[in-house]
Amino acid sequence: MLYLETFGCQMNVSDSEKIAALMRGIGYAETPDPMLADLILLNTCSIRAKAEQRVYGHLGKFKAMKADRPGLIIGVGGCVAQQEGERLLKKAPFVNLVFGTHNLHLLQDMVGAAQGGTRSVETDFLDDEGRFDLFPAGHAEGGVSKFVTVMQGCDNFCAYCIVPHVRGREISRSAAKVVEEVEALAAAGVTEVTLLGQNVNSYGSRKAGEPDFPELLRLVAQIDGIRRLRFTTSHPKDISPQLIDCFADIPKLAPHIHLPAQSGCDAVLKGMNRGYSRAAYLDKVAALKAACPRIQLTGDMIVGFPGEDEEAFQQTLSLMDEVQYADLFSFIYSARPGTKAAGYPDEVGYAEKQGRLERLQAAQKKITLARNESLVGSVQQVLIEGLSTSGDSLFGRTGGNRGAIMSGDPSLAGRVLEVRIVEGLQTILKGEILHV
Ligand code: SAH
Ligand code: SF4
Ligand code: F3S
Repeated sequence: MLYLETFGCQMNVSDSEKIAALMRGIGYAETPDPMLADLILLNTCSIRAKAEQRVYGHLGKFKAMKADRPGLIIGVGGCVAQQEGERLLKKAPFVNLVFGTHNLHLLQDMVGAAQGGTRSVETDFLDDEGRFDLFPAGHAEGGVSKFVTVMQGCDNFCAYCIVPHVRGREISRSAAKVVEEVEALAAAGVTEVTLLGQNVNSYGSRKAGEPDFPELLRLVAQIDGIRRLRFTTSHPKDISPQLIDCFADIPKLAPHIHLPAQSGCDAVLKGMNRGYSRAAYLDKVAALKAACPRIQLTGDMIVGFPGEDEEAFQQTLSLMDEVQYADLFSFIYSARPGTKAAGYPDEVGYAEKQGRLERLQAAQKKITLARNESLVGSVQQVLIEGLSTSGDSLFGRTGGNRGAIMSGDPSLAGRVLEVRIVEGLQTILKGEILHV
């Protein structure tokens, strides 16, 4: 039996689906209980030091299990595996195999080798488009909402970020393959697809005849059966006028965009190598709101980047005030090995950074609540995903990607229904289905 644990972002979630399918192919069914497993695989994240430490914490637990069950095979994949490679085998002698972010297709052989007692490490990058076709597309199971990978990797090299180092260069998948996968999903009853990539709006091989990202959106929107289209994550520098137009005139495109600013201060943005200014970011936000007045924005913010002083931090707060994000993910800067910013002098103490994070989060909480309250009385198009976690109501998402609960029959899963919002709480909307 396989115990597979996934850390980090949607790319890893998507890779884990492939890993589970590959392991089924060699006879490992999945179990949620590591005590029942004879194969443990961790798909890891290295975005911040804490994320990496969690992996080592988990490995410590499995080391004890291996002492009791010497036949247990332990493998580490994902971004920490890519970053550490051979070092991981040395640091953790009980680990049998280490597979990088481009090496999932080797996993069946690596597990076979481990069964025969051989330890292995595979972390070579595979920088060509063929790697999208190494796996069967996982569309047979259906469901309400699915992610479809359209590009992988990142060429932006933001000064703080490890992703380009552990995921490699940007590669786009051919539009024909993307359309084929979405058509298969629609045929299996999927209602919503989210086009996925580290930097999705720089999609495009730039080969003659291949579409760019706005053109890809229009192609996918034509597929019958798909009611709603989303994409994530976007880089502000690649928000083109053509992409903004899509929000005005593709009815299936949900009115939501995740558009991380990272900071509201020009000097910090420059140090981060983000490739846009505060004014350019705000201009794009204004153009998005003009094209689609209902649009909801979410974002990511980093506090305590080297060189951020109180005044720079105030600029971040004022940008948040101007944008009015529906929700915001925020992090304390964490120096990552091999990145440019890891060598920057950093004068602000951790307590000060923590204080900034708390102030930022308190400010966002107020904005989120006010925005949720402002939706009371409005009618939203809600895609019903199924039962809520408590099991006593339905859970769905508005076009703006806000979670909503309401009473109704579970057989409504997969439908897009008109829902009147009756209450706007901090983390959820409450609504009533108007008609089915
Ligand atoms: N490709 C996406 C997501 C990158 S990782 C994008 O470009 O937006 C998700 C978020 O983690 C980033 O947006 C950033 O806010 C945060 N992050 C990345 N590296 C970080 C670091 N070294 N320290 C703190 N936060 C970081
Ligand atoms: Fe990291 Fe920047 Fe690439 Fe996003 S765009 S993955 S933050 S390097
Ligand atoms: Fe983490 Fe790797 Fe994703 S570092 S955020 S799992 S690309």
